[in-house]
Amino acid sequence: MASYLKKKFEKKNGVFSFDINDTNTKKVTEFYKTTPFPNYKEDDNKQTILEKGNKNILARQFKKFIGYQKKILEVGCGTGQLSIFFSINTNNEIVGLDPTIDSLKLAKNFADNNDLKNIELVNADIFDDVLVDNYFDFIWCNGVLHHTKDPKLAFDILSKSLKSNGYILLGLYNKIGRIRTILRKYLSKIFGKKLLYILDPTLKNLKVSKEERDAWIQDQYFHPIESLHTLDEILSWFKKNNIDFINSIPSCDFEFSQDYEDLFEKKAVGTLYSRILNQISMIFNKFGSDGGLFIVIGKKKN
Ligand SMILES: C[S@@+](CC[C@H](N)C(=O)[O-])C[C@H]1O[C@@H](n2cnc3c(N)ncnc32)[C@H](O)[C@@H]1O
Repeated sequence: MASYLKKKFEKKNGVFSFDINDTNTKKVTEFYKTTPFPNYKEDDNKQTILEKGNKNILARQFKKFIGYQKKILEVGCGTGQLSIFFSINTNNEIVGLDPTIDSLKLAKNFADNNDLKNIELVNADIFDDVLVDNYFDFIWCNGVLHHTKDPKLAFDILSKSLKSNGYILLGLYNKIGRIRTILRKYLSKIFGKKLLYILDPTLKNLKVSKEERDAWIQDQYFHPIESLHTLDEILSWFKKNNIDFINSIPSCDFEFSQDYEDLFEKKAVGTLYSRILNQISMIFNKFGSDGGLFIVIGKKKN
C-alpha cells in the first residue's frame, strides 16, 4: 500500500515516517508526548474499543454510513483509537496520520497485538502535504486543526486528497460555544487547578483513570496552540475548496435532529442569524459544557 503518499518516506517500526521540522508542530508533539490523547487502558482490546466507538454517536453513524471497501483518512489520529474502531470488522482501508510518533507507536502496538491488517499509520505534519490528490472517500478530522498554526491552510491541503463525492467531517472549537471552558481556564489560573474538578462537568462525570482525567485537563486547559472558529468561517473554507455543505452540529438552520440517523443527509444552510443563535445556544447545552466542539460535514463536488 502507501500509494496515497506522494513524497519520499522511511518506514520506521511499521509506521510511514517523515521528518517533523515545523516549530509549532514540534511544540504540539512535545505536548502530546507527555499526555497521549486519547489514552489506552491496560486492558483495552478490540471489544472494548468497539464498545467505546459504538457509544460515540458520531463515530457510530460515520462507520455505518461509510459501508465497505472505502478509503478512509483520519487526520490527527493521535493514539489511533478511532481509526482502529473504523477498521474493526470491515474491509475498509484506514490511514491514520499524526505528527506525534509517541501516540502512533501506541496505535501501531494495538493494531499489531490485535491483528488488524487494514490500518496504516503515517507520521507526518499536515503542512508537509504528503498525501496524493483525490484519493480518500472519507476524511475525519476532529479536534485537530484548532491546534495547528494555520487551520485554514491545513484544511486547503487536506481537501485536495478527498475524492469527488467524498465526505469530510471536521470538528473544531467554537468561538462562542467554548466560552464556558475559556472562563474556567482563567478562573483556574487565579484559584488553582483543583477548581476544575468542581467546575468542569466532563471531568466530574469522567469515571476513568487518573491518566485519562489528566489528559483531559491538559488538552482542554493547558494546550500550547489553540484557535477558535465559527460555522460561517468553515462555510467559507468549504466554498473555496469546492465542498458542499451537508450538515452540522449544532445545526445551521432551526431544524434539529436528535438521533443523528440522518447525519449525512443534506440540510439547509440557514441564515447568519440562525447560525449565530445556534452557536450561542451551545453555551447552555452539553456542547458548551463539553468544551464547545462543533462539527461540520461537507461533500466534495464533482
Ligand atoms: C486533541 S488531539 C485529537 C486526537 C483525536 N483526533 C481525537 O479526537 O481523539 C489533537 C491531535 O492533532 C494532532 N496534530 C496537531 N498538529 C498537527 C498537524 N500539524 N498535522 C497533523 N496532526 C496534528 C496531534 O498530534 C494530536 O494527536
